[in-house]
Amino acid sequence: MIIVTGAGGTVGSELVKQLRAANVPFRVAYHSATKVAAAKAGGLDAVSVDFAKPETLAPAFRGAETLFLLFAGGMGQTEGEIAAVEAAKASGMKRIVKLSVIGAEGDDYSFAQIHRPVERAIEASGLAWTHLRPNGFMQNVVNYFAPTIRDHGAFYQPAGDAKISHVDVRDIARVAVAALTGSGHEEKAYTITGPEALTYHDVAAKLSTATGKAIRYVPLSDDDAKSGMVGAGIPPFYADLLVDLNRHYRAGGGSAVSDAVRVVTGSPAIDFDTFAREYATMLA
Ligand SMILES: NC(=O)c1ccc[n+]([C@@H]2O[C@H](COP(=O)([O-])OP(=O)(O)OC[C@H]3O[C@@H](n4cnc5c(N)ncnc54)[C@H](OP(=O)(O)O)[C@@H]3O)[C@@H](O)[C@H]2O)c1
Repeated sequence: MIIVTGAGGTVGSELVKQLRAANVPFRVAYHSATKVAAAKAGGLDAVSVDFAKPETLAPAFRGAETLFLLFAGGMGQTEGEIAAVEAAKASGMKRIVKLSVIGAEGDDYSFAQIHRPVERAIEASGLAWTHLRPNGFMQNVVNYFAPTIRDHGAFYQPAGDAKISHVDVRDIARVAVAALTGSGHEEKAYTITGPEALTYHDVAAKLSTATGKAIRYVPLSDDDAKSGMVGAGIPPFYADLLVDLNRHYRAGGGSAVSDAVRVVTGSPAIDFDTFAREYATMLA
C-alpha cells in the first residue's frame, strides 16, 4: 500500500485524485485534522502526521510499503523529511518517491539546499527510491499571483527576463502515479518541466489571451520583492528563499526543458496555453 504525505496540498490533492481514479490502494496523511475528518467521511483511509513530531510518523506508516514524501514546511523541512525517511525504514517500507525540486543535484540555491540532503538520506537508506524534481508549478499563477491579477491586472516577481519551463501539477502527479505503481523507476531522478521555457512577459501575454483581460508582469528588484513579500505576511526567512530562487532563475537555472513527462507517462506535458485556458476563470 502507498501512503501519500502532503495529501492536502497542490500536488498531493491532484495525486490523490489520480490514485483514486487508478483504483490503487492508498492512505492519505494530512497535517490538518479537518482534512483527515473530511477524507474519512469521503471514504479514504486517512491519518494525521506532523513532520515536526517524529513520533506521529510510525503509527501513520504502519502497513505501508511505499511512501510519497512531500512536505512544505519551509523552516525545519529538511529535518522533518529526514525523520520521515528514518521512520519509513524502521517501519519496513520498501520504496520512497520524493517530491524534490529542479536542480536539487546542484545543491546551489535555496530550495536545492533544502531538498538535496533529503535525497541523499533516501539514497543511503537502502530503500528503492525515485526523486521527482519539478520546475515551478503553473498553478503558482492561481495560488500566488491571482489576488493582484484580479485587483489590478498585474503580477510582480524578481525574475527579470528569466526563462522558466513551468510545469502543470497534473503532470507531476501523473509521473508520481507511474513511479509509485510501476516498475523501472528505481534509482532514477526525473527533472519534470513543461514543454517550453517562457519569460513572465510571455506568461502575462498568454494569461491575457486566455482571460480576455490585460495582464502585465512587473519585474521587481530583490529588495522590493522581499519587502513586498514580508509586507504580505510571508516570514522573512521564506522571502529570502523565494528571492534566491528567482536569482537562480535569472542565472538560467529554470530554463531547461525535459521530456520526462512524455517518457514516463507516454503522453506530452500540458503547455501553458492549455493551462491558462483551463484556469482562466480563477483569474477573473
Ligand atoms: N511551488 C512550486 O513551484 C514548487 C516547485 C518545485 C518544488 N516544489 C516543492 O513542492 C513542495 C510543496 O508542494 P505543494 O505546493 O503541493 O505543497 P502545499 O500545497 O504547500 O501543501 C503542503 C502540504 O504539507 C502539509 N504540511 C504542512 N505542515 C505539515 C506538518 N507539520 N506535518 C505534515 N504535513 C504538513 C500540508 O498538510 P495539510 O494539507 O493537512 O495542511 C499540505 O498538504 C515543497 O517541498 C516545494 O519545495 C514546489
